[in-house]
Amino acid sequence: MLRRLLLFLSERRALRRWMETSPAAAVLTRRFVAGQTLDREVEVCRRLNAEGILASLDHLGENVTSAEEARTSRDFYVEALRRIAQEKLQASVSIKLTQFGLNLSEDLCRENVASLMEAAVAHDGFVEFDMESHPYVDRTLRIVTGMHARFGRVRAVVQAYLYRSAEDIDALCRDRIPVRLCKGAYREPPSVAFPKKSRVDANYMRLAATLLERGVNPGIATHDPNMIRHALDHVQRHGPAKDAFEFQMLYGIRRDLQRSLTGAGYRLRLYVPYGDAWYPYLMRRLAERPANLLFLARNLIRK
Ligand code: FDA
Repeated sequence: MLRRLLLFLSERRALRRWMETSPAAAVLTRRFVAGQTLDREVEVCRRLNAEGILASLDHLGENVTSAEEARTSRDFYVEALRRIAQEKLQASVSIKLTQFGLNLSEDLCRENVASLMEAAVAHDGFVEFDMESHPYVDRTLRIVTGMHARFGRVRAVVQAYLYRSAEDIDALCRDRIPVRLCKGAYREPPSVAFPKKSRVDANYMRLAATLLERGVNPGIATHDPNMIRHALDHVQRHGPAKDAFEFQMLYGIRRDLQRSLTGAGYRLRLYVPYGDAWYPYLMRRLAERPANLLFLARNLIRK
């Protein structure tokens, strides 16, 4: 019910206009989105780097509907890689393959990603491949694996809610491909994903342990204190060294946890979205998990 309401609101132009212009709404969006332009994004990344925090730039975009739009999305990221190098930022970029045309054609997408990877080589950059809903998983992993073989400089994402993820992690570790582990953000059917949070959490802990043992520079992406505690326990008992893995969180979320990890000398990377399409991003995030409304309220109070 709430989810449907949020999705309905995400399409309301008047509300969007209000959100885009009202100072009250700006407080909320500034907390989670760097801004609309690459300049604003660079400012935020510079500030994070000064606090010892790594960043990953995410240019927000809608699913593209033409080859031209896919190329435009790619060009935003090529420019982001150029600026990261120019400003000497400690930052990667995070891309979604549907922004690069994956829903139009796998070949078109591969071509766009290859030209982004060429820019990554030219600018000594690093590209993380977000994982979208389950119909895209095979195609995304095929493209990431191909790009890793040609260029290196990639990190794949695995979602702990999918039954298949242990096998995917095995294959990625065998190929020495870095992995970001997250719980998974999409509404998936029980035929492919654990419906119960407790099972997702248990799988997350198991997969995190595998990655910390056998993975290359893994990213433990979560705000869940239990997952973090479990990973820290593993690290303190069995390694790896503090500079051989990183924690990852979303910009603006659980800043208390962020500070305690960096204070203890752990590497932390924040995923920092920017761009015009922030309104649907924010609303869809809330709609995907209406419980996030509570998280939002709680975390705004917690600061
Ligand atoms: P969980 O949802 O159990 O939340 C644990 C605690 O975290 C909550 O109690 C709350 O305190 C805090 N919290 C979580 N979400 C919050 C929010 N929105 N606002 C405020 N507080 C919040 N997913 C995906 O499918 N593909 C991907 O490529 C990525 N990439 C990605 C990168 C990075 C760096 C992160 C951190 C996350 C992703 N995700 C993702 C999203 C991920 O799958 C998941 O939906 C969210 O991280 C929430 O899961 P948690 O592990 O934080 O635990």
